[in-house]
Amino acid sequence: MRKGKKAASPAFVTSNPHKFAEAERVLKQFGVIIRHARLSCPEIRGEEPAVIAADSVRRLICKVEPPFFVEDAGLFVGALNGFPGPYSAWALGKVGLGGLLRLMEGARDRRASFRSAVALFDGKGVRVFEGEARGRIAFRARGENGFGYDPVFVPEGFRETFAEMSGARKDALSHRRKALEGMARFLLKG
Ligand code: IMP
Repeated sequence: MRKGKKAASPAFVTSNPHKFAEAERVLKQFGVIIRHARLSCPEIRGEEPAVIAADSVRRLICKVEPPFFVEDAGLFVGALNGFPGPYSAWALGKVGLGGLLRLMEGARDRRASFRSAVALFDGKGVRVFEGEARGRIAFRARGENGFGYDPVFVPEGFRETFAEMSGARKDALSHRRKALEGMARFLLKG
């Protein structure tokens, strides 16, 4: 889906190499080549990825050459009232996938969604692009690919977890891809 127009080459500010690899693959399809700014930026505590990402990108103005973007994502589980949501990284570090699966023991409603927000500073203003991937929590961790909660997330319409899919298949379905696509279209317009 390569577009004719060439967009400026934005930097993705992230310390997560998996996120960078996914973003690089997805954006390349739109002709947007990104740079990697390997910084970790402090995140505010909040419920909404869009609010967290917008705050993070604003803190980086004057520290990183524009255009640049950050991304915030999380897994929101319906039966757990949206937990771990903004605490996804923290919860994974504390209790791992096993902890999430234990919390879900006996839960019949296993619906969940990944949500992503990409916040871009293009030198003029901040724009936020969001994406969601709906699915359900598997009964056990399956697959070796991807990162984070991928082994326990089964996207809607599939039986495999994200971790059992190729990167290209996850890219076609993922929350991150949808948010990045919004940004790519904006950059290509501008
Ligand atoms: P953050 O956006 O770096 O705060 O990410 C929060 C956490 O959500 C990550 O550390 C991962 O554990 C999880 N996460 C975010 N995106 C994904 C994904 O695409 N697959 C699996 N886990 C993810």
